[in-house]
Amino acid sequence: MPIFAAVRYIGNKTKLLDFIQGRIERRRIAGSAVDPFSGTASVGQRLKSLGFRVTASDIMTYGYVFARAYVQAHRLPDSPGLAHEVLAVDGKDGPSVDDVVAYLNGLDPLPDFIHRHYSPDGDGGREHGRMYFTGENAARIDHVRNRIEEWRRVGHIQDDTYYVLLAALLEAADAVANTTGVYASFVKSWQPNARRRLRLRVPRIHAGNGCRAERKDALELAADLEPFDLLYLDPPYNNRQYPGYYHIPELIAEGWFDSEPELRGKTGLTADQGKRSDWSRAGRCEDAFEALIATAPWRHVVMSYNDEGIIPEATITRVLKHFGLRQTYRRYSRSYKRYRSDSDSEDRKYKGDRVSEYLYCVSRVR
Ligand SMILES: C[S@@+](CC[C@H](N)C(=O)[O-])C[C@H]1O[C@@H](n2cnc3c(N)ncnc32)[C@H](O)[C@@H]1O
Repeated sequence: MPIFAAVRYIGNKTKLLDFIQGRIERRRIAGSAVDPFSGTASVGQRLKSLGFRVTASDIMTYGYVFARAYVQAHRLPDSPGLAHEVLAVDGKDGPSVDDVVAYLNGLDPLPDFIHRHYSPDGDGGREHGRMYFTGENAARIDHVRNRIEEWRRVGHIQDDTYYVLLAALLEAADAVANTTGVYASFVKSWQPNARRRLRLRVPRIHAGNGCRAERKDALELAADLEPFDLLYLDPPYNNRQYPGYYHIPELIAEGWFDSEPELRGKTGLTADQGKRSDWSRAGRCEDAFEALIATAPWRHVVMSYNDEGIIPEATITRVLKHFGLRQTYRRYSRSYKRYRSDSDSEDRKYKGDRVSEYLYCVSRVR
């Protein structure tokens, strides 16, 4: 089954979906599912396609965009409000999302915020030598982002279409970003992908019933949930904070329409707006994990983690056995090629090219 959530993302489970699905099916779990760390929504999307009623949530706004597009949206209506602009005809029949994406891909570059600050052709970008996007691609991102926002503001597109177009833009922008996968730094010369022209692709949307997206802290989400079947957990593994590693996708997702954010330093970092996570802090992640397992009204837990994670295995085992039925506890493992966003540095030495990915499972019912 093809997966179209194509951004490069730390912890993205796209390559592990069959492993996760296999364990869920072997344990005969079905019904409702909650994915409180949904990221690119790869798992939520797979669960939806398996018939789960999925709630997908993430603390980051781009995570909400992916969850809205791939989990909550279940069919994409035509957009009659765009007939004149996109199809150059007036009438009841609006363009499909395919037509709209083709139209957006044909727009000329029109410089705005991303061009000004994240390409070397803009004043801010030039001052700091920022090379996240070529001037042309940055101005294309600006134009598409502004146009999508304007269409929504005047009611030409519905929310599902808005988020699907935004997800397509986030993926397209990531594909031409001059980074090694995270935005904590940019490459000092243009890479081949960055020289390619920005091109949006139409996201593949699965039909599904009763699926929804949230943008919440995981503990806040857990406190609001009615009893449900599967809690799929994929928290951060280490002390890398997502707001600092993905500040540009977050900016594109949030836009710059109400007030322009202040940018700091060489990388144009934005304020983290309280999105720094306890799950990425040794010393705090253990309490957060125990509180989540204790609070959420789940029947089954399936948790992805790996052998380099900051929550000790002894804690995971103790908590899951305490809150679930001991005899249902299992840990499955899979050796996996490491996602390398950057090379070894003084601060971090990778142990090797492979990492063991674990799935911890426990149930409250047999
Ligand atoms: C390992 S990634 C999840 C990857 C996801 N399963 C995928 O396939 O793309 C962890 C996610 O947790 C999110 N996160 C971190 N702290 C959070 C919190 N306190 N509440 C909700 N989400 C959080 C991050 O933004 C990140 O998207």
